[in-house]
Amino acid sequence: MVSSRKLMKLVFMVPLLAMLFMSSTLEAARASNGTSADGTNHLHSPRVNGSAAAPRGRSLASPSSQSVFSVDRYGARGDGSHDDTQALARAWKAACASPRPAVVLIPGGRLYLLKLVTLHGPCKSSVTLTVKGTLVASPNRADWSDKDRRHWIVFRSVNKLTVNGGGAIDGNGEKWWPHSCKINKALPCKEAPTALSFHYCTNLRVEDLKIVNSQQIHMSVEDCTNVLLARLSITAPGTSPNTDGIHITRSKDVHVTNCKIKTGDDCMSIENGTRNLHVSKVVCGPGHGISIGSLGDNNSRAEVSGIIIDSVQLYGTTNGARIKTYQGGSGYAKDITFQNMVMYDVKNPIIIDQNYCDKATPCGEQRSAVQVSNVVFKNIRGTTITKEAIKMNCSKNVPCQGITLQNINLKMQGGKGDTQSTCENAKWRKFGTVHPQPCTDKS
Ligand SMILES: *[C@@H]1O[C@H](CO)[C@@H](O)[C@H](O)[C@H]1NC(C)=O
Ligand SMILES: *[C@@H]1O[C@H](CO)[C@@H](O)[C@H](O)[C@H]1NC(C)=O
Ligand SMILES: *[C@@H]1O[C@H](CO)[C@@H](O)[C@H](O)[C@H]1NC(C)=O
Ligand SMILES: *[C@@H]1O[C@H](CO)[C@@H](O)[C@H](O)[C@H]1NC(C)=O
Ligand SMILES: *[C@@H]1O[C@H](CO)[C@@H](O)[C@H](O)[C@H]1NC(C)=O
Repeated sequence: MVSSRKLMKLVFMVPLLAMLFMSSTLEAARASNGTSADGTNHLHSPRVNGSAAAPRGRSLASPSSQSVFSVDRYGARGDGSHDDTQALARAWKAACASPRPAVVLIPGGRLYLLKLVTLHGPCKSSVTLTVKGTLVASPNRADWSDKDRRHWIVFRSVNKLTVNGGGAIDGNGEKWWPHSCKINKALPCKEAPTALSFHYCTNLRVEDLKIVNSQQIHMSVEDCTNVLLARLSITAPGTSPNTDGIHITRSKDVHVTNCKIKTGDDCMSIENGTRNLHVSKVVCGPGHGISIGSLGDNNSRAEVSGIIIDSVQLYGTTNGARIKTYQGGSGYAKDITFQNMVMYDVKNPIIIDQNYCDKATPCGEQRSAVQVSNVVFKNIRGTTITKEAIKMNCSKNVPCQGITLQNINLKMQGGKGDTQSTCENAKWRKFGTVHPQPCTDKS
């Protein structure tokens, strides 16, 4: 296991280095009217369809062997007011049927208005959606029927899918947030779309994109295998309701790297069925931080394992490294490492909460719980805005096992007094210097 992880690390090192070069390109592409940093003007991208040659784009790996399907050739207007949903659906359909690797191109410098759209496979070959311009969600909430208010752009059952391009995906969330029951308590709680959803995708790469102001969750990865999410910039106001950055569930072999996530909810939420997830070089905040869970709701079973959260910075988030489970669940959250984290003015820097409850009525103690075991918190430093820097509130009947605290230094913001640590039902050990001193309750 250890050696395969090391191998993974190596495999992902090379794209990381390449990224250092590309981030400036990404910024340039975002800021400009579609002119990319290599000087190639993609604003009026080659008017090709089906079989014609690919545009001379540095980002398209082997131009001669790819077919490019520009949405403009399928009737898209790109003026930000006409509905381009069908044009995208048609371009996708053609690309998906291509026997050769295909690129669906969203040209730069323009706005493509979309309603709910599902782009599904299986496709004949690999497909890349290259977003150079901006995809914008219809600002008219009536365009989302009650039949499906939970999705905006959905990719389903696609193998070898890449989404890239340096462009933007804008959920127009400002039109939805005031109607959230979290903002206006008089309103019923209704669902709002997730901007980008990936369901049952394998060998998925999502890279070099800006996702802004989603209606709710920005990106959700569900039932996917072998996923790379890299160089994503996800931004929404700290006050926007339920706007999680990246949500992952029932997926395995997932890498998330070099992302900047500023939202009103979890930076990343790692849910049931996630196995072998490696997160590195992610910057979070504002938002609620990195959370595993909540798990075990309604006495359900949870299985989460093999999670490494590495080299993450958190700015002013509610939580830093968090695991939360309900009373009464079953299953496990195990083999989890949070390491090399820097936290600035975080409210709950390190927290395991097995008494999590997000219900109108108290959840109460129950006999079972999701077992939390083999969790390492290592090389974590920074500042907190509350005294309780380390909190392990575990289940009485299923105590937390094998918790490691190693080289931790968490201080009060502005040096206002000292931090402390509380624990209940946690079996832990300490290595190196740990500040605050872990609780004396080793029950
Ligand atoms: C648009 O692109 C052209 C190059 O094609 C560049 O000269 C110009 O400055 C750009 N305009 C803006 C507003 O970025
Ligand atoms: C693709 O190009 C061919 C030949 O130039 C043309 O006949 C056809 O209508 C085009 N298809 C689309 C969808 O634009
Ligand atoms: C738990 O049950 C409640 C009430 O039946 C329901 O609203 C909620 O969605 C359930 N939660 C999960 C995670 O299934
Ligand atoms: C969580 O995942 C496990 C394993 O995949 C599954 O058995 C269980 O039903 C899932 N729980 C929920 C609430 O979906
Ligand atoms: C643990 O959580 C329970 C329920 O929220 C709370 O009553 C208790 O005080 C907590 N224990 C510690 C040590 O924080």
